[in-house]
Amino acid sequence: MSQTFYCTTPIYYVNSNPHIGHAYTTIVSDAIIRFRRLFGEDAYFLTGTDEHGQKIAESAAKAKMEPQAFVDMMTQKFRELWPELHIEPDQFIRTTEERHKQIVQQILQQIYDNGEIFLKEYEGHYCVGCEEFLNESELVEGQCPTHQTVPEFRQERNYFFRMSAYQDWLVQMLKDQPDWIYPGRYRNEVLRFLENPLQDLCISRPKSRLTWGIELPFDSDFVTYVWFDALLNYASALDCPDGELFQRYWPVCHHIIGKDILKTHAVYWPCMLKAAGMTPFARLVVHGHWVSSGSKMSKTLGNVVDPLAMKEKLGVDGLRYFLVRDMSFGEDANFTEELAITRYNGDLANNFGNLLSRSVNLSRQNFSESVPECGPLTDAETELRAQFQNGVEQVQEFIRQFYLHKALEHIAWMASQVNGYLQQQAPWQLAKQPDQRERLGTVLYTALDATRILVGLLAPVMPEKMKLASTTLGLEGLPQLTELQPGLLQSGTALPKPEPLFPKIQVPKVQQEAPTPKEDSAPGSAATPLNIDEFNKVELKVGLIRDCAPVAGSDKLLHSQVDLGEGRLRSIVSGVAPRFSPADLIGQRVIVVSNLRPTKLRGVLSEGMILFAESEKGFELVKIPESVVPGSTVR
Ligand code: MSP
Repeated sequence: MSQTFYCTTPIYYVNSNPHIGHAYTTIVSDAIIRFRRLFGEDAYFLTGTDEHGQKIAESAAKAKMEPQAFVDMMTQKFRELWPELHIEPDQFIRTTEERHKQIVQQILQQIYDNGEIFLKEYEGHYCVGCEEFLNESELVEGQCPTHQTVPEFRQERNYFFRMSAYQDWLVQMLKDQPDWIYPGRYRNEVLRFLENPLQDLCISRPKSRLTWGIELPFDSDFVTYVWFDALLNYASALDCPDGELFQRYWPVCHHIIGKDILKTHAVYWPCMLKAAGMTPFARLVVHGHWVSSGSKMSKTLGNVVDPLAMKEKLGVDGLRYFLVRDMSFGEDANFTEELAITRYNGDLANNFGNLLSRSVNLSRQNFSESVPECGPLTDAETELRAQFQNGVEQVQEFIRQFYLHKALEHIAWMASQVNGYLQQQAPWQLAKQPDQRERLGTVLYTALDATRILVGLLAPVMPEKMKLASTTLGLEGLPQLTELQPGLLQSGTALPKPEPLFPKIQVPKVQQEAPTPKEDSAPGSAATPLNIDEFNKVELKVGLIRDCAPVAGSDKLLHSQVDLGEGRLRSIVSGVAPRFSPADLIGQRVIVVSNLRPTKLRGVLSEGMILFAESEKGFELVKIPESVVPGSTVR
């Protein structure tokens, strides 16, 4: 029997339209599911909408609609968006569905009967944005740090869940299963939160104040707190406790969430499950936020990016690729149109797209529009095949570890290896020499065959484009895992005329090309002395290299994403590929000239210069100790 896997997204509030953050979580989850299916697993994918609570009730009132009519209208926007983004959930759950309400009530009753829910007089600070009471210690200058609003002070009788009783159990769980909350920094954040005594959780709202919720089964004067209702969607969608889906998928439940809802998922949810006698989820996988000019994108703050608008620019699969590739999983990432287009042009148009079109076109021209025969292999082909064999394993490993950006980085590297191979073997030259025909066939076969493997690996992220790419390679469908090994392309397969898969996009003209530096000092001569004011014009900062990849089509250039403490990552190109691999640079603290005019190198934006010291090996890293924070000035 195949291995099972269950992946959920948060269920999204329907108080306003879906934005790029919602699209990100759902696209990442969809890609994970498609990868797992590629690996032969039986994978189930759930998403949906969170439709109760004060925030929704207020939005409905503003829209002058009944809450039910309002949520019926809003949920459609999410449901209809997903197929447009090539997202295919197995199930879409709504918390206003009868089956969900019944399960919430059953579980509340069970926990109440176990004596873990009690009535108490309470006062506290309620943030409507979070739909939560916040402790004094969580407020920053009297405001909710997430929504930057002053919470309402409330005094009322409410029902409480005895969450404090589960603190020791929860800490032990976190200690026993170090990967349970992933990446580790979020686990540590939860452990730090649990260093203070855990409070009991207020799980009701009096109907005198809010009626839009699920009635408590043991007191009809109250409705259920929206988070207690919402979290249970993950289990109610599978017909817990006896449903067949629940039996099959609950033990392998992976929740993918943004870091904003860590506490509810990592603290409230496991305690609720434990109190209800259910086993906790298998893993909580937490990602960072897309930020816009350094601040969080959110409905409440009103600086959101519309996924449909970006889809018009990059195409759906281009947008999916950019989102998965450019966010180092777990960290924040900056969303700009320019970064998105630069990534698209670099990885998709220049690297992969170019590889596909030139290998197909050259084969069509020279081998009667079909895949050539592969002759004897030289070291170059054997090495490439080995890189691809390892590459497929490496990509699987990255996906299992939820390092999706690394998987795509590795696939881009594999594509650039094939482009490098073509550059070296120069089939366009071989084509001019009649005695090299067998060799020409071998080179083109190798390139086409490698491209076929790349198509299989990229399909979970770009399903539609890769279907087209596989047609271009004359394949019947997308390659399966067992087919992702070199040498399986059938010689003689007809190759249809390729359509450009990823036409290049013009980068908006905000930056000009930098002027060529003046060569005003002869080699070896002393540089012209500067006065201190002239020197002070150069801004030197400590940067942390968060990510790095080769620049497609170049043997010299590496493209780094550098954190200068600005709330976004800078794109910087350095000519050090002969000396360093991307892995040598990732995680290094370096000195960056941060006020150079941005320029483009091989079409890739470079917004600064990383300093290296010249040495007999070419260059050395100028390392900065870990205690120095990214963005610190160097003087
Ligand atoms: N309804 C709750 C979740 C209940 S789950 C039982 C909720 N909904 S939400 O509409 O506010 O969605 C929050 C989620 O949207 C985040 O956890 C994340 O998955 C996604 N994102 C919202 N803004 C985001 C960014 N700016 N960047 C990345 N993802 C973000 O909270």
